[in-house]
Amino acid sequence: MRIVHTLPELREALSAHRAPAVVPTMGNLHAGHLALVKQAKPLGDVTVASIFVNRLQFLPHEDFDRYPRTLQADAAQLESAGCDLVFAPAEDEFYPEPQTFKVHPDPKLADILEGQFRPGFFTGVATVVTKLFMAVQPRFAVFGKKDYQQLMVIRQLVRQFAMPITIVAGETQRADDGLALSSRNGYLSAAERAEAVQLSLALKRMGEQVRAGVDVGRVEVEAMAALEQRGWKPDYMVVRRRDDLQAPAAGDTSLVALGAAKLGATRLIDNLEF
Ligand code: PAF
Repeated sequence: MRIVHTLPELREALSAHRAPAVVPTMGNLHAGHLALVKQAKPLGDVTVASIFVNRLQFLPHEDFDRYPRTLQADAAQLESAGCDLVFAPAEDEFYPEPQTFKVHPDPKLADILEGQFRPGFFTGVATVVTKLFMAVQPRFAVFGKKDYQQLMVIRQLVRQFAMPITIVAGETQRADDGLALSSRNGYLSAAERAEAVQLSLALKRMGEQVRAGVDVGRVEVEAMAALEQRGWKPDYMVVRRRDDLQAPAAGDTSLVALGAAKLGATRLIDNLEF
C-alpha cells in the first residue's frame, strides 16, 4: 500500500488505472470504515482511501481541532483491509487558498435534519467530495449508510452533475450491543458508552410502532421524550421516506427512522431502515 500526500503524487499513482474505487474518510478509522474498504475492493481496479479532516464541514464550535488525527494507525488498518493507495493531503495541499467556490446542495434535502442543526454542513461535504472526486476520478465511491442524509446528498450531487461515478452504500457496522460504530464514540465515558445503545433501540422502537400503525407524529414525539427522560438532548427523532427524506405520506412503505442526540458533550447520529 502506498501513501501519497500531494495531488501530483496521487495522479502519478493512479495513472495506470482506469477504474479507481474510492472510500472518502476523515481518518480516525474503525471497523465501519474498513468494511467500506472491503466492499470497495472488488469494484474497481485499484482501491483508494482518502483521509482528510475537512474544515469546511465543521461549525466554529464543533470538534475540528480536537478531531483525532491518527494517520499511522489508520494506514495500518487500511493496509490490512486491502487498500492499495491512501491519499492524505495536508490542509494547505487540498485548500491552498480559501475554498470560496462551493457546491450548494438542494436546501430541500440539505437544510433539514443534520443541515438544520449543522448549517452549512452539507455544503462543506458536497464541496470536499466534489473536489476529491475530481482529484481521484473514481469509477466507484463507497459511503456508509450511517451518514444516511450525506449518502442521499452525494447521490443527488452525482446524478445532477452526471458524474460518471457509481455510488455504493455500505451497511452500518454495529458494536455487539447495537451501537453504530462512529469515530465520535471515542469521546464517550464508560457510563455514556453503556447508555449510548439507547439511540439505536429508540429508532428500532419507532420503526416497530409505525409498522404497527401508530401515528408517525406521535411516535416521533414519544421517542424524543423517552430519550430526554434518560438525560439525552435529542435534536431530532423522525420517520422519513428513504429516497428524499421527506415526511411520509399515507401508504409510503420505504421508510427510515433517523435520530441525532447529544449524550453529555458527544453528539451521536444513527438511523434504521424499516
Ligand atoms: O463521512 C465522512 O467522513 C465525511 O463527511 C466525508 C464524506 C469524508 C467528507 O469529508
